[in-house]
Amino acid sequence: MTMSIRPIDPASRPFFAAEVSGIDITRPLSGEQAGAIERGMDQYGVLVFHDQRFDDDTQLAFSGHFGELEEASGDLNWGKKRRIGSALVNDISNLDNDNQVLARDNRRRLFSLGNRLWHSDSSFKAVPAKFSLLSARLIPSAGGNTEFADMRAGYDTLDDETKAEIEDLVCEHSQLYSRSLLGFSDFTDEDRERFKPVLQRLVRRHPSTGQRSLYLASHAGAIVGWPVPEARALLRDLIEHATQRRFVYAHGWRQWDLVMWDNRSTMHRARPFDAGQVRDMHRTTVACERSTMAEAA
Ligand code: OGA
Ligand code: MN
Repeated sequence: MTMSIRPIDPASRPFFAAEVSGIDITRPLSGEQAGAIERGMDQYGVLVFHDQRFDDDTQLAFSGHFGELEEASGDLNWGKKRRIGSALVNDISNLDNDNQVLARDNRRRLFSLGNRLWHSDSSFKAVPAKFSLLSARLIPSAGGNTEFADMRAGYDTLDDETKAEIEDLVCEHSQLYSRSLLGFSDFTDEDRERFKPVLQRLVRRHPSTGQRSLYLASHAGAIVGWPVPEARALLRDLIEHATQRRFVYAHGWRQWDLVMWDNRSTMHRARPFDAGQVRDMHRTTVACERSTMAEAA
């Protein structure tokens, strides 16, 4: 078997979202194979692998090739008894600790609906996420796609005036803000402390390719030095621009897909599905090496 990486839609998105075939990533990888996958990530931003029967141990082993793994501390389960044993695996499911589907009004479920807003993983942490790796263990019979937007294209297609205006802007990101957009405000004092805003550059340069991208997320609720309404109006305009359909790849899941994305150059969002059906996805997350504030402009 030789590994190949081919764009999913070569006619309209030759440089964004590719499918990798000819490799079983649940088995130990050579340094050369891991290097080829990392270069594929640099080029395409999103990589799709089909038929990868991961458990948490093999998913952790594969993910560890790409850097330090982040703790799964971005949800309301943090510090509580969790369904998933490893503290490095994010529970992206609608299941409780007994594997029962969460009730429609369950607080954890309502918090997790924040994933339906465009975001970049862990932009609310001082050191945010580099890669996310999402493994589809059980999927509903319909719906539940994940959409990805190419934020390099979003940046490149801005006019020069806007590029100059936003070049050095710094945003405040917090899950308190993204959840409030959906009307969720049921936070404890501890949640509020843990989700205090962090600073992130609005324009990033990819450390490997040097390409610039818009670093946006629904977690961004302010721009340092700007009046809040003006900041939010600009951020909404930029998200609208960057998520035009021509920049978006919509992934329709098959069981045992593994999709891996670069949070430095993409945003993503979940799409709805029947709340009575099971959707069980496990996510590992590779951390960036430093805060965007410490990255070269
Ligand atoms: C995530 C996420 C979207 C989805 O795992 O980070 O946003 O479709 N998931 O579950
Ligand atoms: Mn996410």
